[in-house]
This record gives sequence, C-alpha cells and structure tokens, in this order.
Amino acid sequence: MPTVVLAHCLDFVTWRNATRTLILHDVAAEEITWRIRDPADTATPVGLTPPLRVDAQARATFGVPRTLMRLVEDVMQTGAPDRLDLAYRLVLRQVRGTTPSHAEDADGTRARHLAQEACEQTRAFRAHVAASDTPADALRWDRPGGFVAQCNARFVTLQFSFHPWRMELQDNMMQWDGTSLHLGAPLQDADPASFPSPALPLVEGMDIDRITALPAVAETARSCLVCAMAHHATQTVFGEGEATAPLMFVGEQPGDQEDRIGRPFVGPAGQLFDRALQEAGIARDHVYVTNTVKHFKFFNRNGRRIHQKAGVEEIRACAPWLQAERRLIRPRLLVMLGATAASAILQRPVVIGRERSRPVTLDDGTCGLVTVHPSFLLRQPTEEARTREYQRFVEDLRLAGRLIAA
Ligand code: URA
Repeated sequence: MPTVVLAHCLDFVTWRNATRTLILHDVAAEEITWRIRDPADTATPVGLTPPLRVDAQARATFGVPRTLMRLVEDVMQTGAPDRLDLAYRLVLRQVRGTTPSHAEDADGTRARHLAQEACEQTRAFRAHVAASDTPADALRWDRPGGFVAQCNARFVTLQFSFHPWRMELQDNMMQWDGTSLHLGAPLQDADPASFPSPALPLVEGMDIDRITALPAVAETARSCLVCAMAHHATQTVFGEGEATAPLMFVGEQPGDQEDRIGRPFVGPAGQLFDRALQEAGIARDHVYVTNTVKHFKFFNRNGRRIHQKAGVEEIRACAPWLQAERRLIRPRLLVMLGATAASAILQRPVVIGRERSRPVTLDDGTCGLVTVHPSFLLRQPTEEARTREYQRFVEDLRLAGRLIAA
C-alpha cells in the first residue's frame, strides 16, 4: 500500500508531487494512506513510500487544469479531515476522464463547498487585518477556520509593508520579524513556500492606501487580476527606479518586450528614451519610470502581438497602483509621456501639441510636465521629422532637469 507522509498539515507541495506520481501509476484513492508527520518525528522521511519511478516524459505530459488545481488548493487550506483523499480523487477522475455529471457529483459538490468556505474565511480575515487599528504586534484572529490565516501571512506582511507584526490565533500564533515568518505548533518548522496559495489573489481586500513601502505595493500588484489584460499578459510590469527620485516618468503601458522581461521601457521606445535622457544629462538610475497601465494590452495578428491602446477600464483598474507610486515616491516633478498618461493624471482629455513643455500643478500639488511619448518619435515618417521631434523631446527633458534643479 503506498503511504504518503506530509511534512506538516499544510504541505501542499508534497501532496502535489506524490499525487502526480501516484496518478501516473494509476493508483486508486482507496489504496493510498495519507499521513501527516508528527513535528517531533524528524526520522520518518517525507514523501511517498515505497518510491515509484516516473520517467521524465510522462512527468512532462502530466497536466491538470488550473481551475482544478485552484479548487484543490482552496480545499487544502480548510483543514477538512478528508481533504487529502478528496483532492486526490478530484485530480484522478479528471486525468482518467471519469468526472461525473454535476447532479451526481458528491465529491465536486463537497469540494466547491469547502472552497467557498475558504474564500469567505479569507475575505473575513483580510477585512479584519485591513480594518485593524491595533498595534502590529498585538493582532488577534481567533475564529476557527482551518489554515486560512497561515496561508494569508503574506497578505499581512504586505499590508504592514514588511514591518514586524505578531498575531495570536485561536490555538497558536504567527509572527513576522521583519525578515522571516514564524509559526506556532503544529507548523513551527514548516516552510511557507510549501503552503497552498491563498484562496483569493493577494490584491483582493488589500488596502493599498495603507501600504507604506514601494516593494510591498509592487509585490501586491504582481497578483492583480482586476482587468482582463492581467489574464492575457505575461506579467505585471511595475515601475522601477529610485524610491526617492525627484523625477518620475509615466508612460502608457508595457510593450511586447517589457511584458516578456518584466521591466518598463526596455524595448525600442525605451531605448530611445534612454538615449534622450542621456543627451539631456539625466541618469536613468536616478529617476523613477513607470506606466499608467501595468499590463501589456495586445491582439494577435498572425502570431504577432500587436499593441492595443489602453482603455478606460484598464486605466481605472490600474489607477490605485499609479496613485500608490506617486504617494510613496513623492517626486518633485512628474513627466507625463504621451496622451494616455497625461489624460489619466490630469483627469481630462489632453492634446499633447497644445499642452506640452508647460509646467502644470497636479491635484496633489506636485509639478507636472506633459511631453510626447517616445514611441511617437519612432512613428515619424521621415528622417528629418524624426530628428526634429527627437530634439524637441530632448529639450523637454532638459526642461525637466532644470525644473527639479530649481
Ligand atoms: N511604452 C510605454 O508606454 N511603456 C513602456 O514601458 C514601453 C513602451
């Protein structure tokens, strides 16, 4: 009889690895014994006994839909006593193609019920953290509810901007000392990387206005799935640069290369931008560069990803991120590169030709400056126009340099 020993009650990674191996050997759920190792018993090895071999090719072809894995992760964090078996049966029947109809699906119904419970508890836990005005070292969460609190430790850490915090739980505690997470028994030696991920994206329920460190905002933005683009793009491309930069540049949205690499302004427009910055005597390392929208919006044409202008929906969805960047960087001058950035920040339609090169005061009192987007330079039809527009752009950057020096 195969036995799987998990390192602790939230050891999703061992469960997942063992499940893949056992399913590739077509082992029925009833044949498996799932055990959680006693924290004092470090002699018993974690994993599957007896070990079963799986060749690399079979391993590579094994795939389970993301929605099912999401359901399984949600079930795991409820702490329901039958969760390990139940989750195994759900994956096995999917791979065998024997999922019953909705009406006869007792396992599916139970799993969905548990997942809903995990979502509700996650929402309640996060609302409690976000509303809490107790000192960070005196937090309390004493409602029962499996391991939802532990799975959301990252949420608490981000909400407190990586500052130390401590939370008493119903029968144990968890604590972030500014560097690592410490958990009470029975999870005291557990690696949080082996936990199922929280039932809701990190951003859901996060009070972004309360975060006081830029890396915490950036990390939260990485799990943002608010707009449709977040589901299509490769990754969130957050701003980068000096956290105390006097000069902040805001573009439209990442392009194809930015989307692949994960950094703003690194593609053709970014390279031209870098050249112009250098010519204007501004070091890119000393400024902060970001975009109005943090995901690449595109459509597919013959396998090529073609840029699509960011719309109202994406701009609105991303507004809290840009707002947080502005609040935390507090630049002396904010340069709006192109119409998307300018109209999002000035909150009205902007005709660049009419408004460029003139300092304006923004809603938070910061000085603002509108100029063209570097990709406008790339679109010029002739060499002469390109040179002329490039020089005008460099002049605007020089003006920016003078405005922060003044
Ligand atoms: N265009 C932008 O607006 N931003 C980038 O990051 C790249 C191209």
